[in-house]
Order: sequence, then structure tokens, then C-alpha cells
Amino acid sequence: MRELTPVETVTSVHLPDLKARRSRHEGLSRRRRPSGSTEPTWSGFAHTGARKASCRREGASRGRRIDKEDTLTEYRKYLRNQTLPGMSEMQTDQMKGLPIPPIEKPVPEGAALIDLPSPESVASWEVTVVEALASRKSRREYGDGALSCEELSFLLWATQGVTGLIRGGLVTERTVPSGGGMHPFETYLAIRRVDGLLAGLFRYVATRHQLLPLGSPGDGPSLGEICNGQRFVDRAAAVFVWAARPYRTEYRYGDDALKDLLISVGHVCQNLYLACEAIGAGTCAVLAYQQDPLDRFLGVDGHDEIPIYLAPVGRP
Ligand SMILES: Cc1cc2nc3c(=O)[nH]c(=O)nc-3n(C[C@H](O)[C@H](O)[C@H](O)COP(=O)(O)O)c2cc1C
Repeated sequence: MRELTPVETVTSVHLPDLKARRSRHEGLSRRRRPSGSTEPTWSGFAHTGARKASCRREGASRGRRIDKEDTLTEYRKYLRNQTLPGMSEMQTDQMKGLPIPPIEKPVPEGAALIDLPSPESVASWEVTVVEALASRKSRREYGDGALSCEELSFLLWATQGVTGLIRGGLVTERTVPSGGGMHPFETYLAIRRVDGLLAGLFRYVATRHQLLPLGSPGDGPSLGEICNGQRFVDRAAAVFVWAARPYRTEYRYGDDALKDLLISVGHVCQNLYLACEAIGAGTCAVLAYQQDPLDRFLGVDGHDEIPIYLAPVGRP
């Protein structure tokens, strides 16, 4: 294929008429979205944040441009499939024959877990994969509608649901792929409007398809504030936060775990996008957040367990 020169612009693309096939979501959103409303875009936040960050960086490194280049070169090494300097001798814990880490974060003894309805109880299986793909987009406008417990159950199953156990129960099979099948994520939920559940913080216990209540997040900043002031996050019915437990992947892949983790979490969020389309809800991936306040919000140590990605979910 011929490459475009810088002055050429794309004036048309092939758009198959898939959106004409009315998805459940489009039906709902047409009914519920107030006329004339426009969805805010992320660009405002992203640019503001990026400008501030770049001002700080440039201010701090004025006259030392070479440092920035070095930093970029250094970080790009993590994108390449090659052993990093100093790591060539790394023997993974799996190679050393150490025991495989647990499938998921342990549940405190005696904790009262909440049963979730079967994910199959959602009554919207008529949305096809093609329709969900065609209507998928980042949705940042949420109304006051709640999610049902069945819908939440379906979204959790779609993103991290366990579909099988292999290797004597030491490894899970799930609705999403993950490097080496290590599934290094825990799902936290900040719930505001889900029928039958009190607002608060929860952790999804995937192996049991249950919720572990973690209480209320306390008086600190809201998730929207933590996400650099992206207020639509605070209007969601529920916010999914995925925290990596890096050792699960490091155990098998050592220093290759970083790239593996970051790619794997993208699969999780994409499943959430598609599952939301299937139930007439909306979501938006969120990477712009402040690390320490998010660690505190979830009550995790930020080292053995690191929140890395969020996605608010709401009804249009
Ligand atoms: C890794 C990643 C990070 C993102 N972070 C944010 C974010 O912090 N805030 C936001 O509003 N959108 C965020 N988005 C959504 C993108 O802005 C959106 O996918 C893009 O504009 C394309 O629009 P579409 O998803 O509707 O096709 C993120 C998307 C990805 C894949």
C-alpha cells in the first residue's frame, strides 16, 4: 500500500452500513439522551494535562534536552521484545521451581461475600458481536439510571469471568486472554447506583463470582478528582478499576511482565466496552489519573498491587 505524504488527507473511508442495524444501545440512547446534548470529549482534559506536564518537564530540564531523549530511548526499550540491559541473567521464579502464586488476592477469613446472579440472567443476548462492535464508542454522558445486579454480574463476567480451571486448579481460564494465562488483575468497583447494592467499594472475587464489600472509600478526593478532574467519572453508576498484581506475571516471565501486563489489561477493558454496548450502557477507558490517591482510594500498597486502568460505566 502506498504511504500518504504529509500534505495528503484522507477524505473518505469505507464505512459498512452496520450502524443501520439498530442495537439495543442505540435504541435506549435515542430515547434517553436529552436533545441537543453533546458528549464532552477527553481532548480538553488530555491537552490541559499534557501541556502542564510538558511545561513542568521543559522548565525542569531547560538546557538539558539530551536527558529527555535519553529517557525516551530508555522507556522505548520496554516496548521492544528484547532482554533489557542488566536483566539478561534473570531466571524467573517459575524456572527456579518456586510455587506458582495464588490465582487471586486472598479473601479475608470470615468475610461476608455477596452472591451475584448468574451472568446469563441478563435478558439482552439478542445484540450480536457485529452490532456491539459497530456501535462501540467511548461514552462519557451518564444519566441517573441504575444498573441491575444482573447487568453488573454480566459486566464482571465479561471482563474477568472464570470459565474453567486448568493445571490442577492453579491457573484459570477466563473470558479474556492474558499472557501465559496468568490473569494478573483484580477488579475493584466503586458502586454508586446498582439495584440491590449499597454504594461503596467492592472487590470482585472472580473464582466464586461474588463481591467482597470493602466499605466506603472515606473522605478523600472523589474518583473524578483523582482522574485529573474528569467529572464524568463521578456520574457513573459504577467505576471499574483494574489493579495489577505484577508478581503473577513476573513469576512466569520476569522482566517481560511489564509489556504483558499492559497489553493484557487492554483486552479486559475492550470486553467491558462490548459488554456495555450489549446492555445499552456506556463506558470509557480512563488512563489519566493520579497514582498515589488512587492507591489510597482502593487501600492497596502500590507495589505488590498497582491500579493501572479505570472505566466508569453508566446508563445514557
Ligand atoms: C489507553 C487509553 C486511555 C484512555 N484514557 C482516557 C481518559 O483518561 N479519559 C477519557 O475521557 N478517555 C480516555 N480514553 C478514551 C479515548 O479518548 C477514546 O478511545 C478515543 O478518543 C477514541 O474514541 P472512541 O473510543 O469513542 O472510539 C482512553 C483510551 C485508551 C485506549
